[in-house]
Amino acid sequence: MPTIDQLQINNFRNFSEVSLTPGRGVNLIYGSNGSGKTSLLEALYVLSSGKSFRSALVGPLIKDGAPEATVYVSTTESAKLGLSKSRNKKAQLRLNGENQRNWDQVARAFPMLVIDSGAFDLLEGGPKIRRRFLDWGVFHVEPTFLDNWRRTVKCLAHRNSLLKLGFPKSDEIRAWDAELSVAAHAVDAARAAYLAKLLPLFERVYSALVGGHTDLSVQYKRGWPEENSLDEWLATNRELDIKYGSTQAGPHRSDLEVKIGSRKATESLSRGQEKLLVCALKVAQGELLSAAVGRRCLYLVDDLPAELDSQNRQRVMKHLLTLGSQLFVTSVEAEAIDLNAFHDAEITRFHVERGTI
Ligand SMILES: Nc1ncnc2c1ncn2[C@@H]1O[C@H](COP(=O)(O)OP(=O)(O)O)[C@@H](O)[C@H]1O
Ligand SMILES: [Mg+2]
Repeated sequence: MPTIDQLQINNFRNFSEVSLTPGRGVNLIYGSNGSGKTSLLEALYVLSSGKSFRSALVGPLIKDGAPEATVYVSTTESAKLGLSKSRNKKAQLRLNGENQRNWDQVARAFPMLVIDSGAFDLLEGGPKIRRRFLDWGVFHVEPTFLDNWRRTVKCLAHRNSLLKLGFPKSDEIRAWDAELSVAAHAVDAARAAYLAKLLPLFERVYSALVGGHTDLSVQYKRGWPEENSLDEWLATNRELDIKYGSTQAGPHRSDLEVKIGSRKATESLSRGQEKLLVCALKVAQGELLSAAVGRRCLYLVDDLPAELDSQNRQRVMKHLLTLGSQLFVTSVEAEAIDLNAFHDAEITRFHVERGTI
């Protein structure tokens, strides 16, 4: 991750016009409820990925009454990235003076990880959230992943539209089965390989955070039975797919199973413990990214103190700092995180007050 040394936000959420110079270490953003802390992190995230982590709609991101929102960053390596989002027009994204048709290149160059109030969803929510977590990592370390993933999406769409007709032409659907199966096995292999590298890192961070060994396990479920190739499964379960009008197995059905002993982790852990687990997973992702492709990711940590006692806040901060990443951390009270304990860290504080910094 290049280090952001300049950030400008215009007409985004409750910010009219804000310009700030982040530091390379911890940027602590503090201020009362509703002042704009989450919005600041959200602006960075939208810039790097095109999406918000808390709204599926574009409208709410643009300041009420304004025609468009813009976010701009420059980095210490002289990269320049700008985005404008308007209510009715397509978003405009520019990297180093060049218009970007999509976020592929930007997302790769600006890897960002979020730890926010939705962190629990990774454990408590549906499989889609866990696939997104996994695929974020695979996308960044395995260059062929995106193409294979797009092929599975294309094949599934074609296949499902044939299934919905009820009496699919057998030859046509067989052709999609074959192509889907090839792409799906590549997606599955990349996910499994990524998780195999991630887990040892995760286990080390997690046991350091919770202070000892636990019988926690994370298992990858690929979305179709282990004993079949996807092609075989699709051929023998055609009737089922026709009944539902969509493909019932494949990489769009894979999941991560997080257990403590034989029980689901969510049945045993407190909210605070769940947050630590998610923090450990995300720290491990940052570590693996550095190790695999030599790139650091930027962390957006919204309301770090929420659910964590002071000792655990410090532990999480310590691990994040060890990564050498640029951090944007928010808190209502500046004192809720004792940053003085980290002597070597470069700390920059920003006080947000009703849309001004
Ligand atoms: N599109 C918008 N236009 C103007 N204000 C908005 C818009 N969307 C949200 N807000 C306001 O922005 C404020 C900041 O929200 P938020 O960033 O979530 O605050 P914090 O994280 O500091 O508690 C809230 O008061 C919210 O009502
Ligand atoms: Mg907030």
